[in-house]
Amino acid sequence: MTDNKARKMQILMDYAGDAIILMDSSGIIHFANKATDRLFGYGSDELIGQPITMLMTKRDAPHHQRYVDDYLLGKQSKIIDIGPREVIGVNQSGEEIPFDLSINKASIDGKEFFVGNLRDITDRKIERSKLLQAQKLDSVGQLTGGIAHDFNNLLSTIMGYLELLSYDIDNEDHLKKIDTAYRAATKGAELTKRLLAFSKKQNLTPTIVNINDSVTNVVELVKIALGIGVELDLELSKPSYTTLVNRAELESALLNLCINARDALPNGGKIKISTTLKQLDMKHVRNLSISPGDYVSILVQDNGIGMSQKILEQVLEPFYTTKTFGGGSGLGLSMTYGTMKHFGGTISIESKENRGTSVEVLLPHVAGEPAILDVMKTGGYKTSKGLGTILVIDDDIAVLNMTADILSRLGYTVLKALDREQALKAVKSDAQIDIVLCDVVLGNGERGFDVAKEIKDLSADISFLFMSGYTNSSISDHGQFSEKELLAKPFSILELRKKLADTD
Ligand SMILES: Nc1ncnc2c1ncn2[C@@H]1O[C@H](COP(=O)(O)OP(=O)(O)OP(=O)(O)O)[C@@H](O)[C@H]1O
Ligand SMILES: [Mg+2]
Repeated sequence: MTDNKARKMQILMDYAGDAIILMDSSGIIHFANKATDRLFGYGSDELIGQPITMLMTKRDAPHHQRYVDDYLLGKQSKIIDIGPREVIGVNQSGEEIPFDLSINKASIDGKEFFVGNLRDITDRKIERSKLLQAQKLDSVGQLTGGIAHDFNNLLSTIMGYLELLSYDIDNEDHLKKIDTAYRAATKGAELTKRLLAFSKKQNLTPTIVNINDSVTNVVELVKIALGIGVELDLELSKPSYTTLVNRAELESALLNLCINARDALPNGGKIKISTTLKQLDMKHVRNLSISPGDYVSILVQDNGIGMSQKILEQVLEPFYTTKTFGGGSGLGLSMTYGTMKHFGGTISIESKENRGTSVEVLLPHVAGEPAILDVMKTGGYKTSKGLGTILVIDDDIAVLNMTADILSRLGYTVLKALDREQALKAVKSDAQIDIVLCDVVLGNGERGFDVAKEIKDLSADISFLFMSGYTNSSISDHGQFSEKELLAKPFSILELRKKLADTD
């Protein structure tokens, strides 16, 4: 080989991105390029003369020579002279590294050699596991959404009848019991709300939110709840940035992150909350399953107990908690994840046992003026008109009966329908229906909005009010009906009265 050619060959080997190894038939390394040293963490030439098994796991090493011998005896090999295959190797520090390996046979002066080509696939592995995790969370989300929907119907019935019952009872002692039961059901409703947020089916109307304002709000609350010896550090971006998110959901997510950080500091320590603007390009967002662009970042860090890899892999799953019974519901992070995904963002968690945890909330940067907070409507509500006729349509018979009972108590004449057919029959009857109160999701794939449209075509004077466990933005197609005409389940008698009073 000419000097020039040899130099070029050398450059080829030194600069090749893949690790390339030349090994003889007894498994001794004769050559390894620079990428090999980098991949396995060895110094230059340290691998030459060593057995290839030193780069293998304890599981694989004992079988290696038998594979080579079998191959040389003419038996088939799963790897030699065939395309790349995923294998695990071990680097100098004993850490396992995944790579694609292809091996080809070569002959030098009549002796058999093998050339191994190794490509590091750590990034690909991480990406794949994140994707799997995202898919898993998505299906768990769909499942929880379905359960939450049914649960909402049960709670509607329980709460409705308890409230009705409370009007019939004068006995203080009995009233107290009913009140306790009602409060328990309300807690159940709160839990359902969180589940629906995880499954992205919750009412999450977004507004332009100034993230520094939200952080400051939450910090005011958290300060009171911090234990002795827990310091809180705030580093807010200047200027402050805005995003499009449901403010209450964002703040409840941040509150959970702060409480989680506090719980990770049983012996005191530091919590730091910082906000920044981040420009994330293709490379940055690859593992986060979000699109490249400008993101506002809220980072909550603590130097507490941290998490093991095993815990870290499960924290986004609903109901996963390490807190002792009664301490946590395990919905905080899963809900946060669901909310951020819903608004085009995500959360990213890093943690080391006994070193601490940082959780970053990323939301797309959306410029604009923050919305002024909703001012509570004053002046009370009109009492319901009463004495009108309402047609209630709900495929859940318990909810249907309960709603009808409440409405007759309020003074309405009530007609009931379990499905489209019964509803249309009622409309075509002699009854003069003023209002239709209809569930959004009816059985047999019927949609409340479609049934309502048919009713409207038959009788233009009727007003509509829809009830649903899923609310506003989660019901993407309202047909010709407005969001104002929606009543979230479970509802109290007061809420029902108020909505009916607003329905003209
Ligand atoms: N900052 C942190 N440090 C250490 N572990 C954490 C931290 N944040 C979360 N974890 C772990 O993740 C688990 C899940 O957190 P998540 O907020 O989802 O639920 P929870 O706090 O247990 O209950 P909930 O928030 O519903 O009351 C926690 O139980 C804890 O093991
Ligand atoms: Mg929590």
